[in-house]
Amino acid sequence: MKRPIAYFAGTGRGVPSTVFKNSDFASIGIETTDEWIIERTGIKQRHIAKTESATDLAAMAARAAMDKAGVHPGELDIIVLGTASPDRLLPSAAVDLQAALGASRAAAFDIGAACSGFIYAATVAEGMMATGNADTALIIGVEKLSAITDWTDRSTCVLFGDGAGAAVLKRSKQQRGILSTFVRSDGSLGDLLCRPSGGARHPFSQQVLDERSMYIKMNGRETFKNAVRSMSEAATRALDAAKLTSADIDLMIPHQANIRIIEATAKHANISMDKVYVNVDRYGNTSAASVPIALDEAIEKGVIKEGSTVLLVAFGAGFTWGSMVVRL
Ligand code: ACO
Repeated sequence: MKRPIAYFAGTGRGVPSTVFKNSDFASIGIETTDEWIIERTGIKQRHIAKTESATDLAAMAARAAMDKAGVHPGELDIIVLGTASPDRLLPSAAVDLQAALGASRAAAFDIGAACSGFIYAATVAEGMMATGNADTALIIGVEKLSAITDWTDRSTCVLFGDGAGAAVLKRSKQQRGILSTFVRSDGSLGDLLCRPSGGARHPFSQQVLDERSMYIKMNGRETFKNAVRSMSEAATRALDAAKLTSADIDLMIPHQANIRIIEATAKHANISMDKVYVNVDRYGNTSAASVPIALDEAIEKGVIKEGSTVLLVAFGAGFTWGSMVVRL
C-alpha cells in the first residue's frame, strides 16, 4: 500500500454552552412535540450559540486540535474551513479564524459545501499537501445555523444546532492517515435545500425580510431520499478506493442529520449500528461541524484510537456528498 500523504495529528471541538431541548420549542410558540422530533429525526436537544460567534466556536475547536497535535498557530501552512453560516459574508470565516488564532503564516480560505464541508476541506488540504504547498493544515467545520434558521418554521427549526469541529493534518511518515477520499456534487438539485435570498441575485430588501427568504428552506422528503442514496454511494466508493470492505472498518462516522438516514446508510454499507457513531440526539444537525465533532468525541471516549480504521461520510446542500477512509 502507498504511504498516505496526511494523517490526523489531533482533533478538537467547540460547542456552545446553551442547550435547547425539544420541550423548549413550546416556549417560542412552535407547535411540535418531543415525540414527533425524536421519532422523525432522533434529535433530543441541540446546542445554540447565544453569546458565541462562529469564529469563537471555530477557535475553541482549533485550539483543542492544535493542543493535541502539539502544533502552535505559527506552524500552520493552511486553514481550510467548511461553513454555510460564516459570521460575515466578506472576508472569509477562515481569515477571521486565522486572526483569532494568530496563525500569521497560513493561507486561509473557506469551502462552500454545506454539511459535506469538513470532508471537502480534508480532501483539498490533502491535495495541497500532496503538491508540496503545505506540510501542516488546520481543517475545520463550523456552523452557527441558529442565525440562518427560520425560528417560526417548525419543519426546519427543530433540526439544526451550532458547533465546530477541527483537525490538524500533518505529513504522514508511517502507514497511517487518509487512505481514500471521494467527493461529488449535483447543483441541479440546489433549490431543494437553500437560502433563496441575501446573496447577490436577491440582496437584502424589505421584501426579503417580509418573506423570510434569507433563511434555510428545505424540501425535507426529497433531501431525505437523496441523502440516503448519496451517503450509501459515498460509503461504498471510499471503501472501494481504499481497497477495503465494510468488515475492515472499526467505526463509521456519518453526517448527523437524522437517525433514519444514518440507519439506512449503515444498512446499505453493510455496517452494523454498533459500529456507527451517533450523537444526533445531543447536537441535532450541525452541518459541516457534525462529522468532526463526532470524530473528536469518538476519539475522546476511546471508541477509536491510533490504528483504528474509520469511514467518514457526509451529505449536504448542493447537493454535495463525500466520504473518506482514515487510519488513525
Ligand atoms: N413537529 C410536528 N409536526 C411537524 C413538524 C414538527 N417539527 N414538522 C413538520 N411537521 C408535520 C408536517 O406539517 C406534516 O403534516 P401534514 O401531514 O399534516 O402536512 C407532517 O409533519 C409530515 O411532514 P413531512 O415533512 O412529510 O415529515 P417527514 O417524515 O418527511 O420528516 C424531516 C421531516 C424530519 C425534515 C425529514 O424529511 C428529514 O429528515 N429530511 C432530511 C433532512 C435532512 O437530513 N437535512 C439535512 C441534510 S443537509 C444538511 O444537513 C444542511
